[in-house]
Amino acid sequence: MKTSHTFIDRLLHWTLALGITFILLTVFLRLNWMEKNHVASLLTDGLSNIDVEITREQAIKIAKQIRKPMFDWHLIMGYIVTGIFILRIIYTSVKKNLYDPKTTTEKFQLWVYRGFYILLGFTLISGLLIKFGPDFIHDLAEEIHKLTLFYMIPFLIVHFTGIILAEFGSKKGIVSKMISGE
Ligand code: HEM
Repeated sequence: MKTSHTFIDRLLHWTLALGITFILLTVFLRLNWMEKNHVASLLTDGLSNIDVEITREQAIKIAKQIRKPMFDWHLIMGYIVTGIFILRIIYTSVKKNLYDPKTTTEKFQLWVYRGFYILLGFTLISGLLIKFGPDFIHDLAEEIHKLTLFYMIPFLIVHFTGIILAEFGSKKGIVSKMISGE
């Protein structure tokens, strides 16, 4: 199989990978350690130990304020990933030596990547609509955006499994090739 990972291919791949990893970290924090109900309970419990009573609503409000600077990075990195995504689409469509899959495995890989890019497009557009879209679309955009993990996690599992199988199978050196190009 002839694969050509140009410098731009690799740059786009790794910046996208880092950007998405960073975004997933903000999602993880939002759903776990910095989850608003969890932080609100810590606040109410901690304060009641020193005889300060606050309402649930007040505690949730403070919990959201604590979470905000962290989750602002979700948006910042979201804009960056959107930019890389657009560059990726442009670069792939103007690239001369378009990838031509031959075997069934290669065809499967190509469709997994295509599917991933289409779904990532939905994630980015829905994220941007939550922020900048009209009011009537806000809730729908949020519902769609929150479905992201249902394809993102399976994709990452398939992706890493495929790389490990290839590295220990017929395509030794596939990882260093994606780093150095050779
Ligand atoms: C790789 C790109 C992205 C991924 C993987 C991603 C993933 C997620 C996930 C899984 C959630 C749900 C967290 C929860 O259930 O509470 C979320 C929330 C959110 N995302 Fe993204 N996101 C991405 C890009 C963006 C972009 C580009 C924007 C807009 C600039 C954005 C704005 C938001 C907002 C505002 C929320 C909070 C929604 C709420 O209030 O419930 N995201 N994101």
